Amino acid sequence: MVPLNMLDIPYTVRATSNIAFIKYWGRRNHDLNLPYNSSISMTLDESLSTTTSVEFSSSFKKDMLIINGKKQDLSSQQNEKASYIKKVLEQARKIAGLNAHTLVVSKNNFPSGTGLASSAAGAAALSLAIVKALNLDIDTKEISKMARQVSGSGSRSLYGGIVKWHRGTLHDGSDSFAEQLFDADYWSGLIDLVTIVTESAKRVSSSKGHTLTPRTSRLYDLRPKIAEAEVKEAETAIRNRDFNLLAEIIMRDSNNLHAVCLDSWPPIIYLNDVSRAIIYTIHELNENHGKNVAAYTFDAGANAHIITTQKHRAAVEGALSSVNGIKRILYSKQGNGPRLLSDDKSLINDEVIRHIGIYKY
Ligand code: PMV
Repeated sequence: MVPLNMLDIPYTVRATSNIAFIKYWGRRNHDLNLPYNSSISMTLDESLSTTTSVEFSSSFKKDMLIINGKKQDLSSQQNEKASYIKKVLEQARKIAGLNAHTLVVSKNNFPSGTGLASSAAGAAALSLAIVKALNLDIDTKEISKMARQVSGSGSRSLYGGIVKWHRGTLHDGSDSFAEQLFDADYWSGLIDLVTIVTESAKRVSSSKGHTLTPRTSRLYDLRPKIAEAEVKEAETAIRNRDFNLLAEIIMRDSNNLHAVCLDSWPPIIYLNDVSRAIIYTIHELNENHGKNVAAYTFDAGANAHIITTQKHRAAVEGALSSVNGIKRILYSKQGNGPRLLSDDKSLINDEVIRHIGIYKY
């Protein structure tokens, strides 16, 4: 049971985005968000973060969700993310033995829906805030399973540093969770230059792609095998701090993902001319150095993540300055994972309560 004094108190968590070195693409179970392959990512710092406040109260008349100032309809069948959020809320209430409604207010500090993994940061922040608000006695591995159901990649944002999401093999998803492989200090020189080429939303959501590609791409059968082998290789490369090898694995995995996307029917195309110019520029830069000093990787969008080391940051930025069409570059070190914020950082204030028309007491 949730102690009554846990109600009516907003809990606020800030979680950060992550960039997958070996990516999740394709789900074997839609409802539980179970992937065909394991994945590995680097958690980013707070330059790309989501802050989420959660409050449970018996005086709320219904569940409410506000994302980036916009009220979301939690009862809409069309809004897939909303139905995942509802499911996770219900699971948490069941564990807590509670039926009070919830107010969730969430805000990104970066553009959402553009392949910058805003959903990952959001899912992690939401899951941890729910657990804190209900004072649930569950460990991070279990919280990563909650986040996984909202956004697969969100399972990895529950930890800092380098994180692995195990695909698992069980039907109920109980062995599909994330865990930290290396903390942010293990290879602190690794950085991400998040290279923005567009701030407009992608045409095909990752959620749609996870279903469409396995169903329609004739190349997809190969992907889980390739990705699973790459996960092992990447883990070894990181353990040995072997950037030359890691960079090749990262670039090949990104290319493999976008190849199966193009092979989907109808095709899914995320990269644009600027993305392609970035790819050529990075290969040229690496050739000039006689080894890999940078790696590009693209999620479900045209924006590039350039993984490099502090040592080569200036050389990479110099090379990117020759590419027309880059809007701006955000710099991110490895992050330490989500954290609870103090009450004065809560996004739930009198103005929000008035705005959404939930009057308490
Ligand atoms: O977590 P989702 O459903 O938004 O899918 C993430 C897909 C990629 O970002 C392309 C890959 C990944 O593993 O992060």
